[in-house]
Amino acid sequence: MEKIDFSKRSFAYYPTEAIVVAKFENGAWGKPEVTDNFYLSVHCFAGAFHYAPECFEGLKVYRGVDNRVRMFRPDENAKRMQSSATYLDMAYPSEEMFIEMCKMCVHANWRFIPPYESGASLYLRPVLFGSNPQLGIRNANDVTFVVMCSPVGTYSGAKALMPGTAVLSRDYDRAAVYGSGHYKLGANYAQSLHAYNLAHKLGYRELLFLDTATHTHIEEFGSSNFFGIKNNTYVTPDSGSVLPSITNKSLRTVAADMGLKVEMRKVYVEELAEFEEVNSCGTAVVITPICEIDDKPALESEEVTRKYLIGSPDNCGPISRELYNTIVGIQKGLIPDKYGWIQYLEEK
Ligand SMILES: Cc1ncc(COP(=O)(O)O)c(C=O)c1O
Repeated sequence: MEKIDFSKRSFAYYPTEAIVVAKFENGAWGKPEVTDNFYLSVHCFAGAFHYAPECFEGLKVYRGVDNRVRMFRPDENAKRMQSSATYLDMAYPSEEMFIEMCKMCVHANWRFIPPYESGASLYLRPVLFGSNPQLGIRNANDVTFVVMCSPVGTYSGAKALMPGTAVLSRDYDRAAVYGSGHYKLGANYAQSLHAYNLAHKLGYRELLFLDTATHTHIEEFGSSNFFGIKNNTYVTPDSGSVLPSITNKSLRTVAADMGLKVEMRKVYVEELAEFEEVNSCGTAVVITPICEIDDKPALESEEVTRKYLIGSPDNCGPISRELYNTIVGIQKGLIPDKYGWIQYLEEK
C-alpha cells in the first residue's frame, strides 16, 4: 500500500478506494452501494450529457488535534443540493440519505483521511445528475447520485493565508440576474471556465465577477464568495445570483460573535478602495486574502484602469486571521464547537 505524503497535497484529484452510488428510478431511490468501480455505466442519451441537469456539492472531513474525525455542516450541503435539484426539476436525496452516503464514502476510504499535522483534509464531492435516456428538453426522470472523495491540501498550492491577486471580470459574466448563480450547478462552472482559465494564465489567483445587469457591484469569485473588512465591519455581497456559501454563512456567525458588525448588501466596485482586508472564502479556499485587485477594460487588455491595493502583500489582515483561526479551530477540534456544526465519525 502506497504511503501518501498528505502535506504535499494541493486541491487536485487523488485516487481513493471506493465511491457510493444510488439511483432514483421509476419514482423511487434504490439502496446506496459502495463500489470500487469508479466508472459509471451511463446511457449516452442521458440528459446530463446534453442539457446539463447536474448539480454537485463540496464539503470536507478533518482529522482533529484529538485524532477524532469531523465532518463540517453536511446538513447545509444536503439542503443546498436539494435547492439546486429543485431548480433543475429533478429528484434529490433526503438530508438523511445525503449525510449517510457521505459517511459511507468516508468509512470506505478511511485511510485517506489525512493526519492532523499534514494540514490536509478529505474532500467529499457529492454529484447528482439526470441519467435516463432522453432527447427532448425536459427534466430528468431518473437520477444518479454519487459520493466520491479525494484528500486535498490548499486550493492554490500556496501556503494557507498567503495573499494573492485578483482581476475584475469586465468582459465575461458568471450568472445572470434571474439565472442559476444561486445554485451549485456544473453548468455555472462550464460557463465561467474560459474566463477563469484566462485569469489564471494571466497570473491572477482569483477572478472577481460583477453583477451582469450593471457591472457596478461585486458578486463573487469564480469558486468562492467575497468578503471585506472595514471599520470593524464584515461586508459581503447580498445577491440572488451568487452561491450561498456555507463558509461565508459560518464566518458571518463567527464575525458577529467576535463583535464585528455584519453587513450583507450591495458592494460597489469603488468600495474596494475602502476595505482594510479582502478575502475569498469557501470550503476549498477556506479564507484566502486578496491584496491586489486589477480593474481592466477586458481580461486580456494591457491597460489597467484602476489598481486596488488592500493590506499587505505578505500577510493576512488581523481580523481575517482571527476568523480563519476560529473556523479552522472548530473544524480541527482546537476550539469547542459551540454552534453544533460538527458531525463526528468513528472508525468502524
Ligand atoms: C462559485 C462559488 N461560490 C462560493 C463557494 C463557497 O461555497 P462553500 O463555502 O459552501 O464551499 C464555492 C465553492 O463551493 C463556489 O464554487
